Amino acid sequence: MLRDPYGRPLKSIRISVTQRCNLKCFYCHLEGEDPSWKDEMTPNEIQKIVSIAASFGIGRVKLTGGEPLLRKDIVEIVEKIRNVPGVEEVSMTTNGTLLSKYAYDLKKAGLTRVNVSLDTLVKEKYRQITGADTFDSVVSGILEARNAGLNPVKINMVLLKGLNEDELFEMIDFARENDVILQIIEFESPYENEMYRKYHVGLDAIEELLAKMSERITIREMHHRKRYHLRGGGEVEVVRPMHNTEFCRYCNRIRLTSNGRLKPCLFRNDNLIDIVGPLRKGATDDELKKLFLEAVKRRKPYFE
Ligand code: 5AD
Repeated sequence: MLRDPYGRPLKSIRISVTQRCNLKCFYCHLEGEDPSWKDEMTPNEIQKIVSIAASFGIGRVKLTGGEPLLRKDIVEIVEKIRNVPGVEEVSMTTNGTLLSKYAYDLKKAGLTRVNVSLDTLVKEKYRQITGADTFDSVVSGILEARNAGLNPVKINMVLLKGLNEDELFEMIDFARENDVILQIIEFESPYENEMYRKYHVGLDAIEELLAKMSERITIREMHHRKRYHLRGGGEVEVVRPMHNTEFCRYCNRIRLTSNGRLKPCLFRNDNLIDIVGPLRKGATDDELKKLFLEAVKRRKPYFE
């Protein structure tokens, strides 16, 4: 297995397929992309880069955006990735607004599982956070995804101080009733700016509460994240990236930006490697593999 200079194995690639989004969540980190990037990769280009990653034993692919379902060719993208030898899992993070329309086709194309961003069950707060009125379509998207056999379906809930902190129990009940996993995410930011100070809330208190409610706590091997198995059913996962050396220590992903740059770290853009440019100029597989290895070499924990 491929390892970076810090000994961390490379297991997954997280690909932004577009920066476009139909929501405007005020806290969005844009997957660490620069909003000035407009170019997008074709399905064949994405497939090629995934095959380079897979040749190094990277078998897990996560698609993200922007909103991936805004790509008209998203089903083709999933299918092409799924057909790459060595790819074991293709998953997607989506805002869910268009998911009910696509869930079955995505499943058929080989999508394994899906994460749906939903921070609140209160429509007015949803509008406040996302700037849109699409709450109901997200909920139907979650249900259709589950019905289509995408498994597991996870809800991504970014915890925001003074906004949705008080909805933990409602979200747990909603997830349990609908047979999906709740993932609580710490608000992350590369700098401690005003927004961070206003909305960031640590997850210590919530983890303490979850521990008391759990019959079992397991650690997921993949990202070394805790999963709380609640008494009376239901599962909650917790993602804590900020100032967390453990988070970086167990990071096993490389990123591919929407405009075709390999990106070693969510929080940095000063060490990107253009891979789609050389690919368009006819680079050989060996040349592309060299670029890939160079990106892996540039991986460095952000919180050391
Ligand atoms: N902090 C934490 N999570 C974020 N996401 C987007 N921006 C942030 C942020 N600043 C999450 C969304 C979505 C996923 C793609 O990233 O909840 O589910």
